[in-house]
Amino acid sequence: MLIIESREIRLASRPKGIPTLANFTRAQIELKSLPDQQVLVRNLFMSVDPYMRGRMNDRSSYVAPFEIGKALEGGAIGEVMESRCNEFKKGDAVVSNFGWREYFIASPKDLHLVSRVVQPLSAYLGVLGMPGMTAWAGLNLVEVKAGDVIYISGAAGAVGNVAGQLAKLRGCKVIGSTGSMEKVKFLREECGFDIAFDYNTGPVLEQLKVEAPDGIDVYFDNVGGESLEAALSALRVHGRIIACGGISGYNEEKPLPGPSNLFNITIKRLTMRGMIVSDWLDRRGEFEKEVGGYLQAGQLKNKETIVEGLDQAEGAFIGLFAGKNIGKMVVKLA
Ligand SMILES: NC(=O)c1ccc[n+]([C@@H]2O[C@H](COP(=O)([O-])OP(=O)(O)OC[C@H]3O[C@@H](n4cnc5c(N)ncnc54)[C@H](OP(=O)(O)O)[C@@H]3O)[C@@H](O)[C@H]2O)c1
Repeated sequence: MLIIESREIRLASRPKGIPTLANFTRAQIELKSLPDQQVLVRNLFMSVDPYMRGRMNDRSSYVAPFEIGKALEGGAIGEVMESRCNEFKKGDAVVSNFGWREYFIASPKDLHLVSRVVQPLSAYLGVLGMPGMTAWAGLNLVEVKAGDVIYISGAAGAVGNVAGQLAKLRGCKVIGSTGSMEKVKFLREECGFDIAFDYNTGPVLEQLKVEAPDGIDVYFDNVGGESLEAALSALRVHGRIIACGGISGYNEEKPLPGPSNLFNITIKRLTMRGMIVSDWLDRRGEFEKEVGGYLQAGQLKNKETIVEGLDQAEGAFIGLFAGKNIGKMVVKLA
């Protein structure tokens, strides 16, 4: 008989402002049997992502809120320990949405098989996973092309650094903003950004005016707030905005007022397009082929900040809002 002890992290209470450790609780469960047509998986790495903050609120959005007292969910890559179905076999590497726990039992339809040739397997949570696909989809959404000047906020994070590297591969001039000089160096020296600046060292618009005096064609918005307002002013006529995220507002109890200069959309005939990566799942194969190819050819850098142990997962998540990560924040479990 199968008896597996598995630790998991649950939502204890809904955060007010920036989440704290008190919003989480830990539990241990026993997995006692593996039903027919099900698979037992041991997680190797789990992801912490800014969107999870939205799911901690009691507000319906494009994904349902987390429930208090239940295990959190999120991207994870694991190894099949035992299978009672034909689709998967012991040793397979699978991506799932059953993060925040050590082991789980799932149906084949909830697992995505990936190649173990790619190392580290955590790449499937970053450059080859949801954030990488977000970057790729965002660029496709507004048809970013050679010659475009693109400004990316949150540039040293999981989505931002891949968006910048892919834009460089497309022949763009790439400008990024981020929260420290260490990250600026990373963007310039490791990711090939043409220009990178620290948004803490002066107003974003002033820095954009210096770095892109003739304006920008595309803005990849990961942050919202001041960066979005600056981009609206810096965009050229017919400029495009990829509305991907707004992390600067995720911990605000009341929504902040929007940009004061939205009328730029009218006078400059701008296009602002919202995107949710899950709408692009039918193109996952295309994404994996293209971006996986760049990775294999050494044309794309996979940058991760790895935190070790399930006990560190809550801290890793909270750290996203203090800029503790360069590249993808990942928790190593096994
Ligand atoms: N639409 C979609 O389908 C989709 C999918 C994935 C992600 N997203 C969004 O894309 C954005 C980036 O996600 P990610 O996974 O790549 O996260 P990430 O950038 O790897 O991590 C979060 C980063 O945000 C920055 N940050 C935190 N608080 C900030 C603030 N108040 N102002 C400015 N920057 C702040 C920090 O970097 P600094 O040191 O630079 O401040 C931090 O490292 C998020 O807004 C996320 O919600 C959207």
